Amino acid sequence: MPLAEFLEALESTATDAVQAFNDANSNETLETARVEFLGAKNGRLKTVQKQMGTVENDNKKTAGQKLNETKQQIQSAFEDAKNRLTGGTGVIRDPNFDATLPGRLFRVGRLHPITQTIEELKDIMGRLGFTTAGGPEIEDQFHNFNALNIPESHPARDPLDNFYIRVAEQTTDSDDNLMLLRSQTSTVQIRVMENTPPPVRIISLGRVYRPDTADATHYPMFHQMEGLWVDTNVTLADLKTVLQLFATNYLGGSVPVRIRPSFFPFTEPSVEADYFWDGRWVEFGGAGVVDPNVLKAVGYDPEKVSGFAFGLGVERLCMIRHQIKDIRDLFTNEVRFLHQF
Ligand code: PHE
Repeated sequence: MPLAEFLEALESTATDAVQAFNDANSNETLETARVEFLGAKNGRLKTVQKQMGTVENDNKKTAGQKLNETKQQIQSAFEDAKNRLTGGTGVIRDPNFDATLPGRLFRVGRLHPITQTIEELKDIMGRLGFTTAGGPEIEDQFHNFNALNIPESHPARDPLDNFYIRVAEQTTDSDDNLMLLRSQTSTVQIRVMENTPPPVRIISLGRVYRPDTADATHYPMFHQMEGLWVDTNVTLADLKTVLQLFATNYLGGSVPVRIRPSFFPFTEPSVEADYFWDGRWVEFGGAGVVDPNVLKAVGYDPEKVSGFAFGLGVERLCMIRHQIKDIRDLFTNEVRFLHQF
């Protein structure tokens, strides 16, 4: 191909391209022009470029220079058009968009009320010096029972009260090998103490499972906040103080807290904690001074350290705060319900 013809082909490609990019007024027209002129396979520039091989050798240098110039020219016309259409944001505006029309609220997703509650509880307890720990939801019997001073014969291990699981690798049918969906977050106390020397001051927030029939106040899965503080001189008085500070922070004002004698195999003494809310006493969880047997099970010396633990129901805290009357509302995922929080 004679040089003159090649240069002319470049020239007209450039003129057409600049025109097309200047005329582009939407994402689609810009893209169509880009493919037509800059397309890597059959774009017009590429087609002309392919013909460079047929230009006489003496003229190849001139042809190459002009080709590069033209490429740059077309490329920058494309960039200009893109900037013009996106206003520098990289997003092309809809030419029909009328910014003067009144706006309408667009509802985006939000955090589930239980998640919001958990975040707030972490925040409050964090300010009291408790760090967050976690543990598995599928537990072995050692962490869910044995280490918590719940012996083989204890009714809390009843298959009717627990979701036992036979895991695939298990070859024997021995009950010792059965795993279970944890029935309490107290498992995490054990896991933390096994791996950390005292002092410890942790909370753990997570799901627990019990085969209860669902009704307004029960659900076979719910969340607990476990707290554990072990140090050289931690007493029941410290427990009451922490529960009181927690209630005041979460529910606001001066919410009275009381503790009543109770029983848990892993605490001695054990208590039930209530707060006074909305004209009545509401139970919000179990607690107590960590039983020496539990400290021994994790290799702590009960002569040297002592501690308290508590386990509170997260759903109840969330429901009280938001005046939710039925726990099932929290898990049916009805958007109109969830949008209220
Ligand atoms: N794990 C107990 C429960 O689920 C609550 C609890 C935790 C009690 C820690 C005492 C100490 O009911």
